[in-house]
Amino acid sequence: MSAGRQFPPIVLIGMMGAGKSTIGRALAELLRLSFVDLDRELERRCGVSIPCIFDAEGEDGFRKRETELLKEYLGKPNTIIATGGGVVVRLENRELLKQSQALSVHLTILPEQCYERTRMSDRPLLQCENPLETIRFLIKTRTPYYQEVAALTYSTDGKTVQEGAIELAEQIQKRLTER
Ligand code: S3P
Repeated sequence: MSAGRQFPPIVLIGMMGAGKSTIGRALAELLRLSFVDLDRELERRCGVSIPCIFDAEGEDGFRKRETELLKEYLGKPNTIIATGGGVVVRLENRELLKQSQALSVHLTILPEQCYERTRMSDRPLLQCENPLETIRFLIKTRTPYYQEVAALTYSTDGKTVQEGAIELAEQIQKRLTER
């Protein structure tokens, strides 16, 4: 936790594989803030994996749980919040993000890099015939939503986790002083 100033919640949004969790964790260490990954927290609370939640309750059931958790964490200052890539799809979540004190940061990634980083994973939305096409579609349809809520946009393409965390820490601190 930071000794001096209070940070509002800092919410990392962006596609799967964009580095929300990895850069988020490094960023939290750098800024001495708490860190939560909403998907991991949901898995911990439900006792099952995200793919299991999708299987049992469908995407809609998962999204409802995601919204509840988002609401809870938006009330926590001094916290870096890594969200799931689809958090911006629900209007309710976008409104929550815009109306809160949180600073939302959009981490961008090119479709090919997203594909490389996620192709060995079990992400439910990418268990399809052509995941790269799906990724392209998701990036295209979600980018306006990410942009609608983001106060900052940062490209993680070709960046190491440490580089990303250092550059983002600078940009976030600068952005917060402008508020
Ligand atoms: C999703 C992204 C995943 C997870 C779920 C749905 C999405 O999180 O929330 O599989 O809709 O893009 P990551 O962005 O952490 O992979």
